[in-house]
Amino acid sequence: MNKSAEFDAWSVGQNYDYYMGRWSRRIADQFVDWLGPSRDAAWLDVGCGTGALTAAILGQCAPRSILSTDPSEGFLAHARSAIHDEHVRFEIASAQALPASDASFDIVASALVLNFIPDRQAALAELRRVLKPGGLLAFYVWDYPGGGMGFIDAFWKAAAAIDRDAAALDESKRFPFCTRDGLAEICHAAGLMSPVIESLEIETVFPDFEAFWLPFTLGAGPAPGYCSSLPQEKQAALKAHLAHTLGTDQPIRLVARAWAVKARWPE
Ligand SMILES: C[S@@+](CC[C@H](N)C(=O)[O-])C[C@H]1O[C@@H](n2cnc3c(N)ncnc32)[C@H](O)[C@@H]1O
Repeated sequence: MNKSAEFDAWSVGQNYDYYMGRWSRRIADQFVDWLGPSRDAAWLDVGCGTGALTAAILGQCAPRSILSTDPSEGFLAHARSAIHDEHVRFEIASAQALPASDASFDIVASALVLNFIPDRQAALAELRRVLKPGGLLAFYVWDYPGGGMGFIDAFWKAAAAIDRDAAALDESKRFPFCTRDGLAEICHAAGLMSPVIESLEIETVFPDFEAFWLPFTLGAGPAPGYCSSLPQEKQAALKAHLAHTLGTDQPIRLVARAWAVKARWPE
């Protein structure tokens, strides 16, 4: 495993939902709306996690079917316990080896996953393999390099200030391709011509500093994985640094911006 990925912890669904899922659900709703109408389609949700995108598809699209895959047993168990719908099937799988035959989906979608896959081109080739000719391939990632994922950006800046080793873990450094141009380049290399790339944005509001801090201590996701690994005094120093930067006497409001990509595969 790449050293910078050592804290990418994907196991406890409830903790992930508290850290990220509650926000990724809101971006998923916007994303599905942005994709446009698509009733009765066969969907694949790659890296479904605790089910944010699957739930948005069910809520808006009256799908014929959804296959939702993720390598994390824990996340899938959480998703299964939250989503009971005869149209949805959850299966353990990585994006590089999908349990589906060629050309079997109308829409292949993936939410906040592509940057965590070391060989992105291999993953995109696999996503394309299972897409029907004329089908839609669509995904989104946080705008890490643009500081667009506010609470993650604030966390890593503070972490780098108290721990030199944290700089290499900063997601804005790890995922430099998560820009409009970087995504256009990746699409081009994957043979996805004329992709539409748009930013989607929500506001993340934390009623106070403690509400901001708590999810980082729960160990689900790269920043919480790193935070939970720190010895007590370092964790306290990080908390104090963040509190000083963000303030403790009013709600904390930060932007969460994603880059969304959609491209139709030729007939
Ligand atoms: C940030 S979470 C996104 C989860 C969910 N899609 C959402 O929007 O909340 C990243 C997800 O990618 C999954 N993941 C990590 N490596 C993967 C791979 N090689 N193939 C597919 N999914 C992967 C993780 O298990 C995790 O569920």
